[in-house]
Amino acid sequence: MSRKYLNDRWCVRCGKTDATPYLKRWARKLPPPGRVLDVGCGNGRNSRYMEAAGYTIDSIDMVDDFGKTVVLGVDKLPGRYKYDIILANYILMFLDNEERSNLMLDMGRVAKKRSMVMIEMYPAKDAYPYDLDEIVGVFGDLGFEIMHKIKDRCILKRG
Ligand SMILES: C[S@@+](CC[C@H](N)C(=O)[O-])C[C@H]1O[C@@H](n2cnc3c(N)ncnc32)[C@H](O)[C@@H]1O
Repeated sequence: MSRKYLNDRWCVRCGKTDATPYLKRWARKLPPPGRVLDVGCGNGRNSRYMEAAGYTIDSIDMVDDFGKTVVLGVDKLPGRYKYDIILANYILMFLDNEERSNLMLDMGRVAKKRSMVMIEMYPAKDAYPYDLDEIVGVFGDLGFEIMHKIKDRCILKRG
């Protein structure tokens, strides 16, 4: 069974249409309307929420139900814009170490100064192992500091 099948079958069509509680909790503290990149957007629930709040959204996922098709960690992120906010909700654990490292470097490349990155993780059945502290460390090397961190989620801010 391919990862694409699993993601297509289980993630994009998970049925949750409301933004994640963590995003809803923090949305008011994120930089004022600007450009958002939603990596691994799934069915677009978080993209739609941010769009309704006035942001301009670029949404990408390897399943093309919503937004542009990109294989994260393999393809380059769209390079046309720099982003004020990058959402990575429940995506990084689906990438192996190499793909995850590639993606994080690429996120650093497209993130503006004073941008924010939101990461949410979950040890799903078909996920790769991960260590959020290590991930935070990589973003630290890219100039991001922790704004909030709890268990499997965090918000990082670039100075
Ligand atoms: C659990 S869903 C999360 C969706 C959305 N971020 C949310 O919070 O509802 C994970 C998403 O990551 C996508 N995905 C997984 N691996 C990917 C990859 N290598 N490239 C692009 N998208 C990927 C899947 O297709 C799926 O839509």
